[in-house]
Formats: sequence, C-alpha cells, structure tokens
Amino acid sequence: MTIAAIDANALTGPRFTALPPLALYVHVPWCVRKCPYCDFNSHELRGASAEAFPEDAYVDALIADLERALPSIWGRRITSVFIGGGTPSLFSADAIDRLLSALRARLPLVADAEVTLEANPGTFERERFAGYFAAGVNRLSLGVQSFDDRFLRALGRIHGADEARRAAESALMIFGNVNLDLMYALPGQRVEDAARDAGSALSFAPPHLSFYQLTLEPNTLFHRHPPPLPDDETAADIEDEVLAMLARAGYSHYETSAHAKPGAQCRHNVNYWRFGDYLGIGAGAHSKLSFPDRVVRELRWKQPRRYLEAVAEGRPVQHSADVTRDELPFEFMLNAMRLTEGVPASFFAERTGLPLSVIARPLAEATRKGLLEDDPARLRPTPLGRRFLNDLQELFLPDRKAGPHPAFPPPPGQAAPGSGKVRTDPAFSRDS
Ligand SMILES: C[S@@+](CC[C@H](N)C(=O)[O-])C[C@H]1O[C@@H](n2cnc3c(N)ncnc32)[C@H](O)[C@@H]1O
Ligand code: SF4
Repeated sequence: MTIAAIDANALTGPRFTALPPLALYVHVPWCVRKCPYCDFNSHELRGASAEAFPEDAYVDALIADLERALPSIWGRRITSVFIGGGTPSLFSADAIDRLLSALRARLPLVADAEVTLEANPGTFERERFAGYFAAGVNRLSLGVQSFDDRFLRALGRIHGADEARRAAESALMIFGNVNLDLMYALPGQRVEDAARDAGSALSFAPPHLSFYQLTLEPNTLFHRHPPPLPDDETAADIEDEVLAMLARAGYSHYETSAHAKPGAQCRHNVNYWRFGDYLGIGAGAHSKLSFPDRVVRELRWKQPRRYLEAVAEGRPVQHSADVTRDELPFEFMLNAMRLTEGVPASFFAERTGLPLSVIARPLAEATRKGLLEDDPARLRPTPLGRRFLNDLQELFLPDRKAGPHPAFPPPPGQAAPGSGKVRTDPAFSRDS
C-alpha cells in the first residue's frame, strides 16, 4: 500500500485497536395508555387478548432477534442489560424469566452485570416485582413522575400518588437498587409543589433519582394542545430548588438529569454517555456497534406488529448505516458532555476510532468560551458548559450544520430522557 493510500484510508473512517464496552437494550413497546407528553415508541394496549398483547410471541421474537444479531457481537461480553419501554412491567414475571434465561444462555454477561427493568406504578403488583427479582432483575426504575394526584392527573398518568408510594416502598424492599423518575415544570406547578414532590421522593431515600424537565415533544398530544406550563423563570427556580435539595441529601448530580448516591450511578446509561456500544433488540430499538474499521447504527421496525412480522421474515432491522467520520465527533461529544465529570481525553480515540486532533479546533474554541475545562487529560464541561450544554455540543457539529443521520433523528431515547432542551438519542439517551 502506498503512503497516499494509507493517508486516504486514515481520512475515510475510524480504526479501532480494541472495541468499546457493550451493553444490551431490550424494548417493550406497549403501555396501558399513551401519556399525552410521551414520544417514546409505546403503543396503547387494546385489550388483554394474545392478539392485542402477544407476550409469548414477543419474547420468542426477542430471542430470534438476538440470535440473528449474535454474529455482529461475537465474543464480546455484555456489561449491562436494560429492559425499557413502553412499560416492561406489563410483562409477567414468567415472561421476564424466560427472556433473561434465554439472554444468559446466548450471551456472556459479566459476573456482576446490572440488569434494570422499567416499571410503571400503574402496573404494580408486589408478587410480580418479587418475580422479576427472582428472574435476575437487580435494578428497578420506577416511573413515578410525581407524588401529587393533581399533577399525575394533569399528566394523564394511570396511577395515583398512593399507588406510586406503595410501588416505591415495595421496589426498595425487594430490589434495594432503585431509580425513581420524576418530572418537573409540570402544568400549573409552583416551586413549592415541586419541592414537596422532591421531598416525597427523598423520603424513600432511593439510591438513584432522575429529574426530567417536562418537554413538549412533536407528535404528542401536549404538543398539539399545550397545557399551561410554568414560565422559564419559574422552571429555572424549580430546578435550582430541586437540585439544592438533592445535593443536601447527598446525591451527586452526575449527569444532566441523573442523581445518585455514591456507587449507585446507572452503569447502563453511563455506558451510553461514554459512547460505549449497545445492541438494541425489540420494536424500534436503536443499536450502535463498533467494528475494527467502522461504527454502525441500526434501527429496528417500530410498529410491534410489523416488528413481529419482520423477525419472522428474518430481517428485524429497518435502517442500518455507518456513522461517518464527520458525525462521530459530534455524537461522542453530545453524550460525553452530559456527564458532570466528562470523560478521560483518551476515550475520544478509544470510542470514535479517530485521533483527538480531529476536534482540536472546536476544543480550543470551547475552552476559550469557558464551556470546557482547560485540562489536556479530561474532556469535562465547566459549570457554564453544563448550563449552556446545547451551545457546547453544537461546537462539534460537522460543518456546524449537519445533524445526525436522517434515519436516526435524536429521538425517543432508549434510556434516559435528557432534560428538555438537551435531549439526546440513546446514544442520544434517556435514563433511569
Ligand atoms: C420511557 S419512559 C418509561 C417509564 C414508564 N413507561 C413510565 O412512564 O412510568 C422513561 C421516563 O421518561 C420521562 N419522560 C417521558 N416523556 C417525557 C417528556 N416529554 N419530558 C420529560 N420527561 C419525559 C418520564 O419521566 C419517564 O419515566
Ligand atoms: S411515559 Fe411511560 S407509560 Fe406513558 S406512554 Fe410513555 S412509556 Fe408509556
């Protein structure tokens, strides 16, 4: 190979000497009722028949989907599993047991792998939670949203505050390792309402809390008919108050929307934010997989019925595309800058397969603007950079105009909703 050929190669794509850590995401695409603010790939159940809710067929499809995907992750260990939705807690403990047994039989999970399941208090049954734990789920993420009936009604939730409290109590008793999702800046919410909600959440002392600012997402009922949300100043006051309460209670604000007691960060979501790899199986699941000379994104068919057919036809993936050399730096920074501590500078080359020098110019600009710490060993946002996260992330856009690939809009996350204005995809993700 000539020198010119080597240089051209170096300009065309990433090169990995070792692949990033790999996590597994499993999507469950049904909910009892569609919440008016939700843009996740979740479909309202229309009855409990096997036709409306094909639990067994779906678990079979997930297993078949995984088997087809195995060659692309051959020999790699799985660091965490996240069963998200939708509402995975619609599934019986037997179905989750069958699913996890099948995963374990086909994938090398690390010994202490974190296995999270997302639950909605409206589907809470103590025995079912105990069954999930017995099946191997070791972390529960509970979508409480609020402990106040007024706001739960305004959000169109299927559960009330009492049910949320009972579910939180049982979750903590059974799993110990629990996240509570709460939202703030809710219709008509005042600072004192949000503080009361945060106080209720803190009274359970969960190891992990996610606080998301309610955002009006396109293609939702709230977007078409916006409720009366607090103005920007009130929303900022709510955020200040809630963050101060969490800090006083000993939670570290380690990511835009995530707060954890020491040692309780969500390992699965931290892998997204550190630009690790993930295989996503199930309807509408996203994947990001690295190979020695490329990074591939995949999107599976979104409609549950279409997904089941597609798996039966042996092609569950609807879109697949290489992440280009131009897109990689932005996608990396989009995620890494959500982390309060940022990432070691060496992660850039390790996770994008490109030399750090490709972002030398925007790095210098971000530092000059006071958005990024001036530390050659770490890529870490300053407090100003965290506050104006969009501005910091945008500096890394290819040509400052192109966004991510059109087939992969920065959409419903698989894990953690970012706080409103800075939401990202699964890679661009949403926790719990
Ligand atoms: C995928 S949902 C799954 C949780 C479960 N289905 C539930 O709702 O109880 C994960 C979390 O995203 C958050 N979320 C969903 N839509 C949001 C929005 N428009 N703005 C802010 N947070 C949102 C909620 O806190 C929710 O618990
Ligand atoms: S917020 Fe949760 S329960 Fe509501 S529709 Fe979305 S995924 Fe389903």
